Amino acid sequence: TSSDTGYETIQVRTEGRVGIIQLDRPKALNALNSQLCREVVQAAAAFDADENIGAIILTGSDKAFAAGADIKEMASKDFAQVYAEDLFGLWDRFAATRIPVIAAVSGHALGGGCELAMMCDIILAADNASFGQPEIKLGLIPGMGGSQRLTRAIGKSKAMEMVLTGRTMKAEEAERSGLVARVVPLAELQQTALEMATAIASMSRPVAMLAKEVVDAAYESSLAEGVRLERRLNFACFALEDRREGMAAFVEKREADFTHR
Ligand code: CAA
Repeated sequence: TSSDTGYETIQVRTEGRVGIIQLDRPKALNALNSQLCREVVQAAAAFDADENIGAIILTGSDKAFAAGADIKEMASKDFAQVYAEDLFGLWDRFAATRIPVIAAVSGHALGGGCELAMMCDIILAADNASFGQPEIKLGLIPGMGGSQRLTRAIGKSKAMEMVLTGRTMKAEEAERSGLVARVVPLAELQQTALEMATAIASMSRPVAMLAKEVVDAAYESSLAEGVRLERRLNFACFALEDRREGMAAFVEKREADFTHR
């Protein structure tokens, strides 16, 4: 529970091998202030370092995943301040989490909230979810990766439209556009996310991490380079006992019993 951990803006718990981080600033629709950023980064790093955790779920409330960076905290800052403190820079550490992270999104995922969801590996959306980059209405542009990750996720024309007009997209359109993996009824969101995360966490932990690493490499490399990395890491799996066990279990028609999970 959060009282054990000392966190004030998030709640953290585990379900089996799944670590769950719930954003918890209900009065501000989970706006991402600096304390919340520090706490999410710390909680994710702790799960990442814990061999008993194989996947993370990041979620918010029914009404809001997160309504963006905290506008009240930002409003009075000038360039020198945001540059000196490298505003939003700490979020890069969350994005660098090495075990798989599922964003279970219901309600508003706007600005930094949409960007935070896109830092996760899989976005699962409730049917009431909405996504957008409304920064332009504040005289601002995205600052937590939205211009880059949204463009890669849904393509230039649609990303331009979203970023330039600030309009929001509902869950159904977000799924059609490739931003989210699946849409489920709100009442089923947490259970579906837990089932997905539990399935991932039942795999070999190092192999799931390698799988994440190679899919992420598709964003950072040429096709030839990415394919080369994939081949090398595929070969690396052959050095793992879990690879031997996985194939032996298939041949013997039984469930694999992985060591690293
Ligand atoms: N920052 C700080 N406080 C916020 C907030 C935010 N991003 N979003 C909502 N809140 C606060 C509201 O100020 C309000 O607080 P008070 O009760 O003290 O007035 C409370 O949360 C409830 O919000 P609303 O009354 O506005 O709720 P609503 O249901 O009428 O509207 C909403 C919901 C459409 C999401 C609306 O709150 C909204 O437009 N929020 C701002 C969205 C936004 O512009 N996000 C981008 C932020 S900039 C950014 O994220 C930069 C970046 O790239 C990293």
